[in-house]
Amino acid sequence: MCGIVGYIGEEQAAPILLKGLEKLEYRGYDSAGVALYNGGHLQVAKAKGRLKVLSELIEGGQKTPGTLGIGHTRWATHGAPSDINSHPQVSDSGKFAVVHNGIIENYLPLKEHLIRRGVNFVSETDTEVVAQLLEYYYKGDVLDAVIQVLRHVEGSYALGVICQDYPDQLVAVRKDSPLIVGVGSGENYIASDVPAILERTRDIYRLNDQEIAVLCRGSVSFYNMDKEPVQKELCHVDWDVSAAEKGGYEHFMAKEIMEQPKVLRDTISPRLHNGRVVLDSVSLTREDLEKLRSIYIVACGSAYHVGVIAKYVLEKVVRIPVEVDIASEFRYMDPMVDEGTLVLVISQSGETADTLAALREAKRRGARTLSIVNVVGSSIANESDDVLYTWAGPEIAVATTKAYSAQLAVIYLLTIYMGDLLGTVGQEQYAAYVKDLMRLPDLVEEILQHKENVQYLASLFFNVKDVFFIGRNLDYAMSLEGSLKLKEISYIHSDAYAAGELKHGTISLVEDGTLVVALATQKALFEKMMSNVKEVKARGAVVLGLTTEGNKSIEQTADHVMYVPEICDIMLPSLAVVPLQLFAYYVSSMKGCDIDKPRNLAKSVTVE
Ligand code: AGP
Repeated sequence: MCGIVGYIGEEQAAPILLKGLEKLEYRGYDSAGVALYNGGHLQVAKAKGRLKVLSELIEGGQKTPGTLGIGHTRWATHGAPSDINSHPQVSDSGKFAVVHNGIIENYLPLKEHLIRRGVNFVSETDTEVVAQLLEYYYKGDVLDAVIQVLRHVEGSYALGVICQDYPDQLVAVRKDSPLIVGVGSGENYIASDVPAILERTRDIYRLNDQEIAVLCRGSVSFYNMDKEPVQKELCHVDWDVSAAEKGGYEHFMAKEIMEQPKVLRDTISPRLHNGRVVLDSVSLTREDLEKLRSIYIVACGSAYHVGVIAKYVLEKVVRIPVEVDIASEFRYMDPMVDEGTLVLVISQSGETADTLAALREAKRRGARTLSIVNVVGSSIANESDDVLYTWAGPEIAVATTKAYSAQLAVIYLLTIYMGDLLGTVGQEQYAAYVKDLMRLPDLVEEILQHKENVQYLASLFFNVKDVFFIGRNLDYAMSLEGSLKLKEISYIHSDAYAAGELKHGTISLVEDGTLVVALATQKALFEKMMSNVKEVKARGAVVLGLTTEGNKSIEQTADHVMYVPEICDIMLPSLAVVPLQLFAYYVSSMKGCDIDKPRNLAKSVTVE
């Protein structure tokens, strides 16, 4: 996600902004910029690339004097990384400068409204709409203008605003995206996260949603949306810098697991309008879909596991044959791909060498390509015919969690969209799917609120040597991810098996004490799964079951059970993955492994 820093005081602001943005670099970004109040005007300097590029552009701040300013590191969501799409974004006349972290979901209709009234836009960003709206509603009072804008925008935001008529004010507000206010002596700050200002102050206010902060050099005031003053309690931060970067969590992986409800909201909500799935970035028409003979899905690692789930989901709902291949295999198998094929490419980084090569092979054979990617402007995104971005923000831990969940959410959106176009999803089923999709973030939140139950189970098993994850249908697809999560961060050998396959060889490995994680969320196959559980129990296995709430009968067979809430079958993997992520995390933590940076692994495998 983006990084925001703001300063108002007696010192030159630019060097303080640059230093603060450096402390937010760990969050990932593709461009950076600053805006300073300088002699009655707002001076803006911004550039694609690393902070070094910006610092050289402004000569460390020498070229941008001023004691009031805002700074930003951008993680692109709307509009590729570029100088013009970088923040701060400014209004037509240059009166307002804005930095933003989040997604303005209704930016397109607002932009069209302003363009019809002669406002000139220069960027592709959703953020520019905020800057232009501020000028549009401005009648001389910057706080009034901010409140007016907030009444019209929908979505998530952390905003820093400066106005050329107000040399002594910095205004900030948030909704669903983090923002804090730092308090100094004769100077005050805003920041997306504590690390940005920890060297300047440890006294902070944490803004609540739609609380507006007005920072002056010697004071900070807070208001609600009715412009009534709000009293807030000053907090003292005693974290060290490392803990601050992880938001107080011990590891980035823990932080990213806990971010999943927000990530799901950020990825789903902008694509649901009045109960309909709207995929603006997808140009596939009904005619295109009706011509398809098959869908191929290519990816690596956890992204491949999303593809295995997508196969079951798409074939069940859209009724088109789906093949899912590991990208490193696909690229050398002389795949039966041509213009009658849609190739779905899934990748968090958008730079995985095997996946990029598979995309190019698919295009060479004439296939239509659609990629699901987290990094805006990455190679796979740029080379695909269509792109559906996951808006998970930068994922730091090598073991993917929030990006995986966001990819699953995009698969559901795409499935519903395609099923509707092809007529394989009736209106009643459509509405039911959308309703469940909207419940997903809260249900994940509910599971995370009981994470201690999984922590206890991990304490029973963190010394095991072998683990088998078994399941049927979507539970088998889910067991692949559960197994990879565990082995890649705890170094415990584990494997995933289709439960019906055990008797064809693998069950010979099951002996006294072998841990078997049995995924049994798919109702239609529950009894079959219980038979498989009995099979392994009979050979001495210890069984950790995972099923939906209410399925208490599993306790007659399994030794321990993890429960997830009920939801439609195709979306159960999005719930089941959470206890499996937590299990892997806690086991690895109890083993003292390097959770965020497991041995031998890289976050993005950009070599073959
Ligand atoms: C998953 O936890 C691993 N980090 C790895 O399997 C990863 O999913 C794989 O390398 C694919 O990466 P991508 O999504 O960036 O293409």
